[in-house]
Amino acid sequence: MEGGLINLSSGLPDAKVVPNADSSVLQIFGGHRLHGHVKISGAKNSALVIMAGALLCSEDCRIRNVPLLADVDKMGQVLSALGISLERHDDILDINASEIKTSKAPYELVTQLRASFFAIGAILARLGVAQMPLPGGCAIGARPVDLHVRGLQAMGAEVQIEHGICNAYVPGNQRRLKGAKIYLDTPSVGATETLMMAATLADGETIIDNAAREPEVIDLANFCISMGAKIKGAGTSKIIIDGVPKLHSTDYKIIPDRIEAGTFLLAGAITRSEILVSSLVPEHLLPVIAKLKEIGVNLVEEAPDCLRVLPTDNLQATDIETFPHPGFPTDMQAPFMALLTLAEGDSIINESVFENRLRHASELNRLGADIRVKGNTAFLRGVPMLSGAPVLCPDLRAAAALVLAGLAAQGQTTIHGLHHLDRGYDRLDVKLQQLGAKIQRVSATGTDMEFIKNIGDSKVQIST
Ligand code: UD1
Repeated sequence: MEGGLINLSSGLPDAKVVPNADSSVLQIFGGHRLHGHVKISGAKNSALVIMAGALLCSEDCRIRNVPLLADVDKMGQVLSALGISLERHDDILDINASEIKTSKAPYELVTQLRASFFAIGAILARLGVAQMPLPGGCAIGARPVDLHVRGLQAMGAEVQIEHGICNAYVPGNQRRLKGAKIYLDTPSVGATETLMMAATLADGETIIDNAAREPEVIDLANFCISMGAKIKGAGTSKIIIDGVPKLHSTDYKIIPDRIEAGTFLLAGAITRSEILVSSLVPEHLLPVIAKLKEIGVNLVEEAPDCLRVLPTDNLQATDIETFPHPGFPTDMQAPFMALLTLAEGDSIINESVFENRLRHASELNRLGADIRVKGNTAFLRGVPMLSGAPVLCPDLRAAAALVLAGLAAQGQTTIHGLHHLDRGYDRLDVKLQQLGAKIQRVSATGTDMEFIKNIGDSKVQIST
């Protein structure tokens, strides 16, 4: 894969590089129970931002537990384009950013991957200058970067947005950002991460108030601390960073992906199966576990990092509203909607983090669900069964929702638009096969291509 990661080998069977999603579809023959054990991969949102964080260090960084994802590969391509050396072996990624050859990130890549914009904080901290294309619009909402920009300005950067490029530089001979007191209007994950990275090498103390508290923010902080950064309070709404002149080499293992873990718990629940999900952190999944228990799913903690889902016959309806962590995660909203289509009674789901993140509802209705959407609220009436149909993934988390629904639906479901799925789930189809699911990735036929053309997936959509 030119300019991307060098993938030497991998842990799961059949793993090569991320599969070619453009020419394939997933066929699921649903209505079958799953069984066995699945191990959760490293967190996508940690991996992406920690790769950006490696730019802060001029020595070797070894990152472990890196998931095999198209987004990780794209982030690798962004770093390669900046002149950074990367080498991947299984789930280990070695990055050496001793020399950042250019401060200008490539337009074609940054516009496809929002997380790559977060590297602006690290590039600016290292070089005193950065040119980063705006990440652009997205299917799930407008997703501006004003909080990132205002925070960098508070730290002394001059920032101008011209022709879609965010040009930032630090005036003065030393080109070093200055510590600042920053209040975020909303606890944005990306802005917290951008500003935390920028502050690690700044002159003096930075305080980020109303910071995001997501586990991936803590993971980035721990990664930076492992390189010698002085950061306190990550995981609370007040993060204090005392800038240091330089960071050193590290060997760091990223946390498990809580969204992948939650998705597998739901896979067990929606197929009324018993499965064991290991390498997860239950504490990161509290709102998801609480909702699962509330609707009648039996979960047993087998070990501190293992949850067993037991078969449940009667799922009960519930209401969900998404919030920043520790509230119910927006990234689990679509998968949970798939589960609630089969619950007894009426459920209401309100998406309060992003303004356009209910597009999976109409695809779930294709499978026989009964969902009405008004604004940011979905009204569900539980149905006794779903039935297989061709469907199209509108975004990453919606893709997981459709796979879950396909596992439960009677007959064959064909899932199109797999590029969304492969961005954020480490070989989901292979892991489900290992659990006994009747799921296979096959080449798209002429009929499949016709389906995509008719439904239309023309928008450029970037990853969450
Ligand atoms: C991250 C996650 C994504 C998750 C989201 C919310 C990554 C790579 N992605 O996205 O999976 O769904 O957190 O948990 O980590 N906002 C502004 N101005 C800004 C920045 C954000 O108004 O400058 C708004 C957004 O439009 C959105 C809300 O803040 O409505 C939350 O977005 P944010 O937390 O920034 O999400 P991301 O970091 O993009």
